[in-house]
Amino acid sequence: MKRLAVLTSGGDAPGMNAAIRAAVRTGLDKGLQVFGTQHGFAGLISGNFVELCSRDVSGILQRGGTFLGSARSPEFKTRDGQMKSIRSLRANQIEGLVVIGGNGSQTGAYALSEMGYPVVGVASTIDNDLYGSDITIGVDTALNIALEAIDRLKTTASSHERAFVVEVMGRDCGYLALAVGVAGGAEVVIVPEIESDPEAVAGEIRAAYEKGKSHALVVVAEGATLNAKGLFDYFQQHKERLGFDLRTTIIGHVQRGGVPSAFDRLLATRLGAAATECLAQGNAGVLVGQIKGETSFTPLSIVVGNKKPLDQRLLDLANVLAR
Ligand code: F6P
Repeated sequence: MKRLAVLTSGGDAPGMNAAIRAAVRTGLDKGLQVFGTQHGFAGLISGNFVELCSRDVSGILQRGGTFLGSARSPEFKTRDGQMKSIRSLRANQIEGLVVIGGNGSQTGAYALSEMGYPVVGVASTIDNDLYGSDITIGVDTALNIALEAIDRLKTTASSHERAFVVEVMGRDCGYLALAVGVAGGAEVVIVPEIESDPEAVAGEIRAAYEKGKSHALVVVAEGATLNAKGLFDYFQQHKERLGFDLRTTIIGHVQRGGVPSAFDRLLATRLGAAATECLAQGNAGVLVGQIKGETSFTPLSIVVGNKKPLDQRLLDLANVLAR
């Protein structure tokens, strides 16, 4: 292999730049030419390749986002879009592709791989919902951002003896909500994987006050059926009867921005470098992630066909600790 390309796709994640830098410099170290593709899979279709040398990836390690840009491309989801992508890679004599992204991006990577093109995925999403990696690039930073918000909210909640609901991202996965809920000492954690009842939430908040707590905190995942808006509306409607209301904070995209943590930079660097190594050795069709602290290589067919389960033991612990 002489020429490979790197792209970032889907929702950006803090640490993507560190992964690009590691993939590029590892390639250069092996005497390869490395190209960046702008705006994810859309850049493949339009043949948007820019050669990257070592200085092109200088000064990006500590920057959030992705300097290559990211996008969700509806055209790439079609067979026609995928065939166009492979044609444009081949027309540029590019023999392998690194796809840095989450679930949707790895589904795209798998599609190209199934069509015979050498692709390696790098596990990167703040949602931590990728099967084949215990932890993904961006999760640690996103958790710390959400946690800082929760710590701040708890101080004002205590002063006013208020109940707060904080909604975090995560699409249809409860990982971020659960991890932030445990680390932030929430009274209630609501995840998409388990149905929740607003009356039961109200009961938990009442119990917290009765136990002498000066505040109550509910952390909810954006993808839960009972999200922050649903809870807020219910509590407003039943305010008189319940005896308290609920203040709402939606953290949203703030979690995806900003400087990547040391953990995310290290993880991204290891995975980005390993992805290039993998392609150079002709070991394509895998997701590079981390399992039990070691860099892992899981076939994309397994990644795409499976859903990461919720950590039930952590959820049980969250309930025990909310006393
Ligand atoms: O997948 C990352 C993520 O931030 C999810 O948590 C969220 O549901 C989604 O992306 C938001 O997507 P967009 O930035 O396109 O609104």
